[in-house]
Formats: sequence, C-alpha cells, structure tokens
Amino acid sequence: MTIDGVAASGKSSVASGVARALGIPYVSSGLLYRAATQLGREAGVRLGDAAALLTHLRARPLRLEALPEGNRVWQGERDLTDELHSSQVDAGVSVVAALPEVRAWVDDQLRALPAPFVAEGRDMGTNVFPQARAKFYLTASARVRAERRSQERPEDVDAVEAALIERDRRDAGQSAPAPDAHVIDTGPLTLEGVIETILQVLPTPTA
Ligand code: DC
Repeated sequence: MTIDGVAASGKSSVASGVARALGIPYVSSGLLYRAATQLGREAGVRLGDAAALLTHLRARPLRLEALPEGNRVWQGERDLTDELHSSQVDAGVSVVAALPEVRAWVDDQLRALPAPFVAEGRDMGTNVFPQARAKFYLTASARVRAERRSQERPEDVDAVEAALIERDRRDAGQSAPAPDAHVIDTGPLTLEGVIETILQVLPTPTA
C-alpha cells in the first residue's frame, strides 16, 4: 500500500503507525532523495548535474534499511541517516528530486525491496507502485502544518508556513493524488485518528 502527501503532512509518522499495526515495514522514499543529495554535496557535484550524481550513486551504492522504528540509509558500513535532515540537505533536495534520472534510480531501489511494505512519499501511488492495493494521500492546510511543526520545535509559525508554501510549489510536479487514492485531510485529526481512518478503509486481505 502507498501513503503519499504534501510536505509536513505527517506521512512518516502515519506510515510508521499503519505499518506497525499491519506488522510490516514502511519505506521512506524521501530518505533516498535526501541521501542522494547528501552524497552529491560531499562529492562536490553540482546538484543539477544528473550524470555526475548517478556516477557517484552507482560507484558507492546506498542501501535503505526498513526497520519497524524507522528507516536507515547505509553506504557500506556508514550510517548516513542522521545527516539527512540538515538544513543543507533540505535546501538542495528539491533540485535533486526534480531530476528524472535520479527519480528512476530511487524507483529502482524501491521496487527491489521485498514486499509487503507501506511505501511513503510523493509519487508512490502514481508512478512507483501504481498497482498498490490501497493508496492514501494526506493533505492539510499550510497553516495547520506550520502550527504542528512549531509545536515540535520553537520556530515562528508565519515563517514555517511561508517555507511550506514554497516547498509545496517546488514539489508540485512530483506530488499529486492518484485517481484511485483516498485523500485524507489530516487537519481536524490527530495522528492516531489518521492511522485509524486508514486502517478502517483498508481492504481485508483475500488470501
Ligand atoms: O518526505 P521528505 O521531506 O523526506 O522528502 C524529501 C524531498 O524529496 C522532498 O523535497 C520531496 C522529495 N520527494 C519526492 O520528490 N518524491 C518522493 N517520492 C519522496 C520525496
């Protein structure tokens, strides 16, 4: 199954909760875009240079580890995960995620993972797993998302809201609900409420 949605809509927490309830892993596609960005930065590659980025990604392959408590990204023995939410990666990742060659590389990594899992991102239900048996798309107004963010860390709500509106604009090419997705406005719901809503509409396994 797939869970897509806008930035800061709570996708990872929701995907993690749903996956736990189902007893399967969840997979964060955004982490792979972040890891590609981080490796490009380290190698001194211009982030819009798809050919150079791909050369590095192929020379030093990454591995996504889908643990129940969260995903980790490894390069050989090195765990990159804790470096992937820096402001530098935040600033560069939408340039990298706009490159079709990088998107194809991420899609290949995801499709090679052993099923079943909950795939979380922007285009899981549309491009990567169009045959998924259940698809969800999470939305919430920029204001609500900004208010939630500022409760997690002390940041100015107006500034966070403006940054989210800008991220929505940059991600727009990658992020839209699949025609057969259940769209959930998470605004009025708690995290548990969103997880519960998803679990209730999931089709019962036939086998
Ligand atoms: O979900 P996240 O914030 O970790 O995603 C990081 C970036 O990767 C974000 O700019 C959107 C992009 N992304 C994407 O284009 N497609 C996906 N399936 C997942 C993330």
